Amino acid sequence: MIELAGIVKRFRDADREVPVLDGLSLSVADGEMVAVVGASGSGKSTLLYLVGGLDADFEGQARVAGRDLGTLSERERATFRGREVGFVFQSFNLLPHLTAMENVCLPAWFAEGPALRAEAPRRGAEALRRVGLLELAGQRPARLSGGQRQRVAIARALFAGPRLLLADEPTGNLDTRSGEEIIDLFGELSRGGMTVLVVTHEERVSRAAGRVLRLEAGRLA
Ligand SMILES: Nc1ncnc2c1ncn2[C@@H]1O[C@H](COP(=O)(O)OP(=O)(O)O)[C@@H](O)[C@H]1O
Ligand SMILES: [Mg+2]
Repeated sequence: MIELAGIVKRFRDADREVPVLDGLSLSVADGEMVAVVGASGSGKSTLLYLVGGLDADFEGQARVAGRDLGTLSERERATFRGREVGFVFQSFNLLPHLTAMENVCLPAWFAEGPALRAEAPRRGAEALRRVGLLELAGQRPARLSGGQRQRVAIARALFAGPRLLLADEPTGNLDTRSGEEIIDLFGELSRGGMTVLVVTHEERVSRAAGRVLRLEAGRLA
């Protein structure tokens, strides 16, 4: 699913160029769940955004879900992100005036073509069922706990049927117990065939993830 070789990513900072990723290589198989840990500023988010096709300004080879990310046009990368990748963030980024179901179905309005819109009710219900929240489909975020809000955000990430979930500190705003439940949910999704790359400080991530990788000085330690 993910094949990175010799990835170098620099940020231009006034007069100097600091390599954040410095010759990083990584393979992640279909259906694998891999955790990424490392100090703040070690490049975890940078790595995730690169794998998700949000950033094409890098050196080296990046093949994700069969695409060579370095050669895609901006438009092709947008299609890649919309079809193949689900993103989950620390802040749940739910719209407060929409119900859980409406939040989950939001990607339909940004998709190419009408297909996802037509399938929205069915897909939305299926995604909410997978995260165990179907019975709260009509609730607005204010009525949900933090863990439930993150589940809605995960259902939204699943809506378009991606093969890869990228999660950037998804438990950062949650108490320990809800955080562990979210990590367990990623584990379940992975056992169901989803590939999951998750940046986390959650200590117990290793019970769900097949591998825990540490980023250090721009490489995997
Ligand atoms: N858009 C940017 N412009 C300049 N520097 C950046 C940018 N994004 C991240 N950086 C720098 O790259 C390094 C890694 O950032 P990041 O990937 O966000 O780390 P992490 O997620 O591990 O905390 C940091 O030193 C950060 O300041
Ligand atoms: Mg980060």
